[in-house]
Amino acid sequence: MQQSIFSLTLLLLFFHCTNTLSQSPASAPVAAPAQAPSHHPSHRPHSSSPPPGPTDVIQILLKAGHFITFIRLIKATHVDFQLTSQLNSSTDGITVFAPTDTAFTNLKAGALDSLNDKEKLAFVQFHILPRFLSISDFQTLSNPVKTLAGSDDRYPVNISTTDSSVSISTGLTKTSIANTVYTDKQVAIYEIDKVLLPKLLFPPATAPAPAKSAETPEINPKDASSAMSSVLHYNGALVLGVVLAAAMLFL
Ligand SMILES: *[C@@H]1O[C@H](CO)[C@@H](O)[C@H](O)[C@H]1NC(C)=O
Ligand SMILES: *[C@@H]1O[C@H](CO)[C@@H](O)[C@H](O)[C@H]1NC(C)=O
Repeated sequence: MQQSIFSLTLLLLFFHCTNTLSQSPASAPVAAPAQAPSHHPSHRPHSSSPPPGPTDVIQILLKAGHFITFIRLIKATHVDFQLTSQLNSSTDGITVFAPTDTAFTNLKAGALDSLNDKEKLAFVQFHILPRFLSISDFQTLSNPVKTLAGSDDRYPVNISTTDSSVSISTGLTKTSIANTVYTDKQVAIYEIDKVLLPKLLFPPATAPAPAKSAETPEINPKDASSAMSSVLHYNGALVLGVVLAAAMLFL
């Protein structure tokens, strides 16, 4: 119990830091494109002609301005290299579901921090399909859809369409495409308002939860409230003591 509170605190702290970092560019979208190059001047040679080679997904996301957290995760897991080689070595293309910075902010605090490196990689890959899909392609898709994370048994994503929307479901997350960020014949990047959580990595808290909450309130809130009331008592006693002492002085 104590340990979980401790790690929760750590997670909260960490998430807070991550948030503060990721929010500064997001909350100032106008400044973001101007700031971004100064962080990585060496990676961004200024050239007017587009560089030869595969479409640069990172550049497109950077330009959009509100995918800073997702970009950071792609880079941290080296999925950017995988994208480049996938684009270079096959004509299938890729489809990226890019969660906005707000989507990450809305995640439960510390949700991603419980993932180890391998899981984090799978989590990022889960947002990428190993083939190009235009909006109309989604209508003819059969579910579940395969992602870069691996087999659709372990990491299933279902995609369904209505007249006006494309819905994505992982069993944990339900969202729909909010916007087309970019599309050519090889790369499609779609904005989504929620982070896609694979069931395998984020097992839903189920049956044990009520049982736990039946026992924890006995310890926890009571502890907290008794601690609180003892503080109050203590303060009360202190005040009483001071008043008494003062009274005795005067008598
Ligand atoms: C793409 O593949 C070609 C050969 O197939 C290679 O010459 C080129 O360096 C590759 N580019 C990248 C960015 O991997
Ligand atoms: C995804 O679609 C498959 C096949 O239609 C279905 O069996 C499965 O329950 C669906 N899963 C979710 C999470 O919607």
